[in-house]
Amino acid sequence: MLPTRHLLGIEGMNPLEIHSLLDRGDQFADAMQQSGDDLSPLSDVLQGKTIINLFYENSTRTRVSFELAAKRLGGAVLNIALAGSSVKKGETLLDTATTLNAMHPHILVVRHNCSGAARLLSHHVDAAVINAGDGRHEHPTQALLDALTIRRRVGHIEGLKIAICGDVANSRVARSNIHLLGTLGAEVRLVSPATLLPTGIEQMGVSIATELEEGIRGADIVMMLRLQTERMAGTETPSQREYFNLFGLDRSKLMRAAPDALIMHPGPMNRGVEIDSAMADDAHKSLIRTQVEMGVATRMACLEAMADKQAVEAETPKERP
Ligand code: NCD
Repeated sequence: MLPTRHLLGIEGMNPLEIHSLLDRGDQFADAMQQSGDDLSPLSDVLQGKTIINLFYENSTRTRVSFELAAKRLGGAVLNIALAGSSVKKGETLLDTATTLNAMHPHILVVRHNCSGAARLLSHHVDAAVINAGDGRHEHPTQALLDALTIRRRVGHIEGLKIAICGDVANSRVARSNIHLLGTLGAEVRLVSPATLLPTGIEQMGVSIATELEEGIRGADIVMMLRLQTERMAGTETPSQREYFNLFGLDRSKLMRAAPDALIMHPGPMNRGVEIDSAMADDAHKSLIRTQVEMGVATRMACLEAMADKQAVEAETPKERP
């Protein structure tokens, strides 16, 4: 059961709550592998419910996987194309949300460039809110799908040495993963140029390295991050070529990691900038395609948990004032 009616971040979740979502995601992943190309619903838990995807930033895999996940649970999904919406006429996030709220959706999936946007919204709508990425803050379903990917391949997360490498400062994926992997007992190391490390990040219980080869030494998992130039002022990195020379993952640098180390990347990838194509496409070492596959299963688990929570709330008599 989810701790709250919204899913805004991994921070504050306990191992039991995380594992129960991963266990359910695991079951959905198996069921989807068995059903192959047949995309009919696997459950009717969202039957009669409306899910709105409200994405203020670009997205391919996250938006599509939420859509597929909701459909496979019998829900009706609406994608708001913000390029063609009233946002372009100056409507604020809260006004858009209040307007959508008046249409009584059950779940709002929100991506926004401001940290805290999903939480703000959750205070103003009746729907349950899922954070699909807010600025540099959190991206909880990405961390959950990453964990499911690792758990299915390696069998456990506890005790693994996991290096999260690259543009940590601008990455909500890094922040959610630090919370989740730390909570499940992994040893997390951040590997990043000093200019892309937020000050005080070591207080999150991670170790830090500013050289890739040193940082990934002995790592079981090497998780690469995209250079998120859309959130940069422009002076944080050298040229892309120089960045690749220093921080791009290629076969020779990967030799420093554990012999059977696995590679991850949340996508979208900048090939030749943070990762070499030969590494990204290495069928034995790269988990990148599995991460995408696990996205649907994980989001099904999250949507189902939210629907269950709403069902419990509906049965609980409200206190009279
Ligand atoms: C990530 C995001 O949006 O934060 N992408 C994703 O959800 N798959 C990472 C990124 O954009 O680099």
